[in-house]
Formats: sequence, structure tokens, C-alpha cells
Amino acid sequence: MRTKRLLIPGPSPVEGKIAEEMAMPAVPHYGKEWLEAYRKTEELLQRLFQMRKAKVYPLVGPGHAGLEAIVITLLKQDDKALVIDNGFFGRRLREVLDAHGIETFSIHSRWGSPPDMRRVEEVLSSRYVRALFAVHSETSTGMVNPMRELGSLAHEYGSLFAVDAVSSIGGLDLPCDEWKIDACFGASQKCLGSPPGIAPVAVRGSILESVDPDDVKAWYFNLLIWDKYREDWGSWHPQPTTISTNVFFAFKAALEGVFEEGLEKRVERHRTVGRAYRESLRSMGFETVAQEEDCSDTVTCVRPPPGVDATELQKRLGEDFDILVAGGIGELKGEVLRIGHMGPTANLQDLLAVVGSLGSILKESTEVDVNSALEVATSMSKGLL
Ligand SMILES: Cc1ncc(COP(=O)(O)O)c(C=O)c1O
Repeated sequence: MRTKRLLIPGPSPVEGKIAEEMAMPAVPHYGKEWLEAYRKTEELLQRLFQMRKAKVYPLVGPGHAGLEAIVITLLKQDDKALVIDNGFFGRRLREVLDAHGIETFSIHSRWGSPPDMRRVEEVLSSRYVRALFAVHSETSTGMVNPMRELGSLAHEYGSLFAVDAVSSIGGLDLPCDEWKIDACFGASQKCLGSPPGIAPVAVRGSILESVDPDDVKAWYFNLLIWDKYREDWGSWHPQPTTISTNVFFAFKAALEGVFEEGLEKRVERHRTVGRAYRESLRSMGFETVAQEEDCSDTVTCVRPPPGVDATELQKRLGEDFDILVAGGIGELKGEVLRIGHMGPTANLQDLLAVVGSLGSILKESTEVDVNSALEVATSMSKGLL
């Protein structure tokens, strides 16, 4: 089990300096050394989110912790929200908003297809919506939502734009300022290649200033409490609670790794690998769920060629080739394969292993040309060699 090539769409394998941090002795989550690390992490997060006047929070928890903190802090009971629902995680945004008693409207579209922007505009213009929520990279369908267009519509009608960047942060470009994203959350365990456990959050500072503290009915997930501790205990313990120092230092090492590689180069690496996956798999008869122009470069979601069973393919990859990919979830259960190429797994070796192994399985029952698919993968990944 531990030897498998882990190519599910997160968590990603934890490697190198990031893994080493997990084996280090624990240190205090306060004091001089901690403070320096904490400040450095905040600075790197601001750069990663590309939000200049952001307040950033390394919340302890899964990505959902970031979502709940944003909902709890920025929305109150009478507020309305609008959700782009075209995949499992879009629907999840809605579920979380519902759980907090927020009146929520959804713009539905077929899973894997972009939202109808006229309908988004209709809702935003006809009632006051406090926030528009959307998933950047929809991990269930392998598509990206039109962030720039959604951000501009939200702002035009005075709504906040809140974004789930769980499977994009550290892999796709995420220029929050340019796309008018006001609040954004990610997770440590996907394109950042760090262990699960940190949900990085960024919120535009001016928005937090306008929140009435009496409206926020929470403590740990109340970002204003995080601000208070940053202010009051800022010289030794800038966060409200204990944080696992191993998980935190691993996360910091992951962020440093992003900037050592260079953010642009890293995004380009994911773009190259994403395109190469799609083209080589198409050449063997697979079909992406999303149109090429909407595809995410961190996760590939494909239907197998006619007559080939997705669940069986997934099983064979694991049993015969030691490669772990994911199957479909929700509406796409049993219909697709989902392959993560996130952070450390956005590389040529893993790509060739997947294409070669899928090719060998397909060859048993179809006329597939595996060598030509491998050539497509290699020639499209030239920049990575
Ligand atoms: C787009 C997206 N949003 C949210 C989540 C949930 O993340 P977590 O399990 O860390 O809460 C995932 C996990 O796969 C995801 O891909």
C-alpha cells in the first residue's frame, strides 16, 4: 500500500525538505523562532494569493476549515449568497452555506460545463447578494470556472467574491487582486505537496474592517479573533491556539519550495503536464469531461473509450501497476478516472507511467497505439526534460 504511486487528486506525496520537517523534534508554537517562521509564512501566503492588502491565516484543519471561517466571519444570518454549482465541490459550498442558515441560490450547469453568465448576472442584479461563491479548480470534473468574469460581475453588483482554491493554490495562477477575489481558501495537501492540516485563508483587509464583531458567532473560526491575537500577542504567539509545529514547518517549507522554483515556472510546469495528460489520453480514445479551454491543469478527469469500464481501469492500475488514481464522485461515480498532477506529481515520469500503464491495459481489448500516445506525452512535455 505504501509503495504505490500516489496520483489521486490530493493529498499529494510529501517529499524532500517538507517530509524532513515532519520528522523533526517538536518546538514551541510561540517565542522568537516561531514568530519569525510565522511572519515569513504570512509573507509567502500573501505572495501566493497575490492579494496585496490581504490578511492571511494558516488555519489548522482541512480546506473546509477555511471555507467555514470565511462563511462565519463574513456572512450573517440575513445575508444571501450565490453559488456556482457545476461539480461536487460547488455543491459542497452550497451545503456549508445551508448549514450556516444562509439563504443561498445556485446557478446549476451540467457537471464539467461553465456557468451561464447571464443567469449569474440576473441573480446578482435582481437581489442583494452578499457573496458569490465559486470553486476555482473543480476537482470532481477537472474544470476551472471563469474566475475573472465571475469576479467582475460580483463587484459590479456590490457582492463579495469568495473562492475555493483547494485544488489550484500552488499549481494554477491565482491572482486574487486581478480577479477581484475578496476571500479565498486553499489546503496544504494538494498542489503545495505538504501534509494535510493547514487551510490557508486570505481575506481583503478592508472587508474585515467592515464586519461588526457582534455579528460573528464563533471563536476559533472567527477571523477577527485571529486578528486580535495577531495584534495583542503579536510579539510571541501571533495565533489564537496551538498549531502542530511539524505540520506548520512542513507547510512553510512547501511555500518556500514554491518560490524557490518560481511561481510562474511552477504554474507553467502544471500547464505543460496538464496539456500533455489530456492530449496523450485523448490519443488513446479517452474524453475529458470538460472542454479543452475549461480544463484544469492540476487534475485530469476523463471518460474511458467506449466499452471500457472506468472502475475496472482504476482497479487494474492499482493492482497491476502500483498506480493509485481516483474514480468519479457524485454524478460521475463509476464513469471517469481522475488523475492528480499536483505539486510533486506534475512531472514527466508519472505522466509516462500512467499513459504507458493505461495503454497496456487497453491493448488487451482495443487497437490502441501506446507508443504514439507516449510520444505525444513526451513531445508535449519537452520543457520538463
Ligand atoms: C475543490 C475542493 N474543495 C474542497 C475540498 C475539500 O478539502 P478538505 O478535504 O481539505 O476539506 C477538496 C478536496 O478534495 C477540493 O478538491
